[in-house]
Amino acid sequence: NAAAAPEPSLAGKRVLITAGPTTTPIDAVRYITNHSTGRMGAAMAEEALRRGAEVRYVLGIDKGVVRPAPPRGAGERLSLVEVRTAEEMAEAALRFLPEVDGVIATAAVMDYRVASPASGKLKRASEPVSLDMVPSTDVLGALKARANGQWFLGFAAETDDVEANGRGKLERKELDFLFANPVARAGEASQTGFAVSTNGGTLLRRDGDDIALPVTSKAELARRIWDIIA
Ligand code: CTP
Ligand code: CA
Repeated sequence: NAAAAPEPSLAGKRVLITAGPTTTPIDAVRYITNHSTGRMGAAMAEEALRRGAEVRYVLGIDKGVVRPAPPRGAGERLSLVEVRTAEEMAEAALRFLPEVDGVIATAAVMDYRVASPASGKLKRASEPVSLDMVPSTDVLGALKARANGQWFLGFAAETDDVEANGRGKLERKELDFLFANPVARAGEASQTGFAVSTNGGTLLRRDGDDIALPVTSKAELARRIWDIIA
């Protein structure tokens, strides 16, 4: 296409992507999680592979989670590790960190874990119960603390004050980029956020103006984000 600017190649680049939900067990048969299905991470990975990058992919798994489908011939450039908890995600991601040029954190990490999961199955009772939860590992924070020149792109889904909350996170977490998108309040439908094939929001940059990226397929959004960050 002679009219379009050449698409930046990612050949020779290595990127770490965290994706999907994490879970925290309650007992032998129950757990807590969130609505993430890993689709935005899969789209970012597929586009990176299409452009020639090597992708180290750490996926929190749960029912219905999607895995990246590498374009033809790119399968060997994808290394995928499956985890469940935030702690497992941090461990796997930290192992990959020294090998990569940049980090994309699409994972919806549980901010709390159950303090003392029961090893057996809890039995039903008629009394109210309460569950002690404690803060879990900050995966992105752990990666930033050990970074050695890598760039970082975070993601944030917000119900309120999307850009302002996003800008605050970008600065607090000292990221290079943060994609902030609205997510529906409980019970509402939405074209952005969890478990849908579309997304749209604002790409915030540490060194530059915000870029509005209107609702489109997650595949097309991944192309636009890579065009900007590449
Ligand atoms: N993140 C992470 N580990 C956590 C929490 C978040 O790696 N325990 C990463 C996410 O993958 C995302 C970014 O941090 O790229 C922002 O996540 P978000 O949940 O929006 O940030 P929080 O600081 O946890 O803020 P909130 O209170 O809104 O949940
Ligand atoms: Ca969070």
